[in-house]
Amino acid sequence: MARITASLYTSHVPAIGAAIDLDKTHEPYWRKVFDGYEFSKQWMKDHKPDVIFLVFNDHATAFSLDMIPTFAIGTAAEFMPADEGWGPRPVPKVIGHPKLAAHIAQSVIQQDFDLTIVNKMDVDHGLTVPLSLMCGQPEAWPCPVIPFAVNVVQYPVPSGARCFALGQAIRKAIESYDEPLNVQIWGTGGMSHQLQGPRAGLINKEWDNAFLDRLVADPVGLSKVPHIEYVREAGSEGIELVMWLIARGAMSDIAGGPNPKVAHRFFHVPASNTAVGHLILENG
Ligand code: DHB
Ligand code: FE
Repeated sequence: MARITASLYTSHVPAIGAAIDLDKTHEPYWRKVFDGYEFSKQWMKDHKPDVIFLVFNDHATAFSLDMIPTFAIGTAAEFMPADEGWGPRPVPKVIGHPKLAAHIAQSVIQQDFDLTIVNKMDVDHGLTVPLSLMCGQPEAWPCPVIPFAVNVVQYPVPSGARCFALGQAIRKAIESYDEPLNVQIWGTGGMSHQLQGPRAGLINKEWDNAFLDRLVADPVGLSKVPHIEYVREAGSEGIELVMWLIARGAMSDIAGGPNPKVAHRFFHVPASNTAVGHLILENG
């Protein structure tokens, strides 16, 4: 059977992708961000998964106000880096895992979560920046990736509780797949940031660090935090953090297993307009 070996969490700031693509990672401003991922890149090499289930949000790139799926699973054989206005990022195309993705869709929909099935989708910085942070600049990404897009851009967005319950359904789906695959689940986006309006530039280090503490030690309590607290405390785009609860809900401790091990934790401000947070949890 397939199993989830680890969950990983990281911000997806687009300027991080630009810093990599434009060879600016050694500039002092960016060095402080990338230093926090040196451990992670080595960890990724030492813990190479067979598949990454990557929870991210599309930023009106593949989707638009024409169609707004709340939860969308990418079942295609491949996904191209999107053109977000200045050409696609010079990163490898994303190879999917149609068979496992179709199995997860089948299982999760039968567990009463109504997923949208996406057979064609370009992937934006929400997906490619986490891959770049964890894998550097390879010729090809180290393994297939199943993109799982969550609407956190246009209200109404799903609650933390819904995301947490969905993560539990995804764990069951993966663990019922009849091949011994080592699967990682990634939750991406966040941490505090607000890109617009009178509070643009908002950062809340205390709230972010409490979120990281609770994600590790009190995920059930954290899943009950309402939208309004994310928006008030972490800014309008801080709501991206509900996606981390999908990955956290998929860990074994939530189903009665041992607590996960914190392999790495990093927090840094600023990167562009965002607080960068990052965690790696290994299943116990
Ligand atoms: C920034 C952060 C984001 O999450 C995003 O999607 C776009 C921009 C920023 O900090 O600039
Ligand atoms: Fe974003």
